[in-house]
Amino acid sequence: MPKKIRIALIAGGQSGEHEVSLQSAHSIIDALNQKKKYKINVIGIAKNGRWLIYPDLNFLLYHDDPKRIRLKPNGQPIALTKGNKPGQAKIINLKAKDAIKIIDLALPILHGPLGEDGTIQGFLKLLNIPFIGSSVIGSALGMDKEIMKRLLAQADLPIAKFLILSESDKKLNFAKVKKILGAPVFVKPANLGSSVGVSKAKNEAEFKQAVKIAFDYDRKIIIEENIKGREIECAVLGNQKPIASLPGEVAPNHDFYSYQAKYLDVNGATLKIPADLPPNLTKEIQTLAIKTFKTLQAEGLSRVDFFLKANGKIIINEINTMPGFTRISMYPKLWTISGWSYSKLIDRLIELALERFKQEQKLQINFSL
Ligand SMILES: Nc1ncnc2c1ncn2[C@@H]1O[C@H](COP(=O)(O)OP(=O)(O)O)[C@@H](O)[C@H]1O
Ligand SMILES: [Mg+2]
Repeated sequence: MPKKIRIALIAGGQSGEHEVSLQSAHSIIDALNQKKKYKINVIGIAKNGRWLIYPDLNFLLYHDDPKRIRLKPNGQPIALTKGNKPGQAKIINLKAKDAIKIIDLALPILHGPLGEDGTIQGFLKLLNIPFIGSSVIGSALGMDKEIMKRLLAQADLPIAKFLILSESDKKLNFAKVKKILGAPVFVKPANLGSSVGVSKAKNEAEFKQAVKIAFDYDRKIIIEENIKGREIECAVLGNQKPIASLPGEVAPNHDFYSYQAKYLDVNGATLKIPADLPPNLTKEIQTLAIKTFKTLQAEGLSRVDFFLKANGKIIINEINTMPGFTRISMYPKLWTISGWSYSKLIDRLIELALERFKQEQKLQINFSL
């Protein structure tokens, strides 16, 4: 029998999306655990940044309650370090110093800053082990809404008009913004997700407040024209030759798809899977999703989100390089209707991670004439 792949599933993290990550991890463990080919080690990153290992797969409290879900208190502090061979890392339990475990692959199921932005991906690269999802550059480009949009615009892909405000030039007033972008506008931290710090502003007072809130979360903020339209999402899977799923639709029952609508209100939004779209728009969205994925150097998986205007025009809103991954999340559901079960999808992501790692290992690191 082939050797089991020893996986480190990393969940939690220090972002506002800690709880979402725990929910995704719970579903993934469930699916991985049904297979004989994986050995799973669960690593939780606490909100204070400590890395903890759990003695078994039962690492959560209130796993079925999105408001109360949290890491169990029995995690033991660990450090990760390089293994003796390329493609292996060691988990060192800092409490029981001799307790060392080898891992062959990481699943960083983390969202937002320090999880989805290239930082953890850089760390995993230094460890020289395969991991699922985008690498450093794809993750970083996908996280920074300014750079993401500039690259999409340069590739002639359709995006909303935007302005950037950094801490040093906080003086932009609403009259000036309105002249360029119209009203209302969306104000967002440049590097975040889950709608944290996102507001809609239609006058000077609301704009000032929105800017203040966004600067609480980032040193750079983005202000966008308001796009009126349906919210359509498309799942992409692959490395160099990515494929796109059928699109889905999110219909928020709030003014926009806010944090409240996403996570706190059980009736906050209705997911339509697949979206009710004519074949030509489905095709166009799939093509744009793949172009976005490639332009932003994404790998493994991503969800690309769009607005579809009443006149049929499609605008790309953003890419999410580590989309929500619970059994009921849009990303896996879009693949389920395209014929990929939840567990087959995870197998494929692991395969893609191993494939990329193998290709990277073939690269020369010494130069000689
Ligand atoms: N330019 C825009 N026009 C209209 N609605 C927007 C715009 N930007 C964001 N929104 C609304 O705000 C939500 C969150 O914004 P988004 O850019 O997707 O941030 P996040 O990365 O936090 O998900 C979107 O799903 C949408 O409902
Ligand atoms: Mg979004």
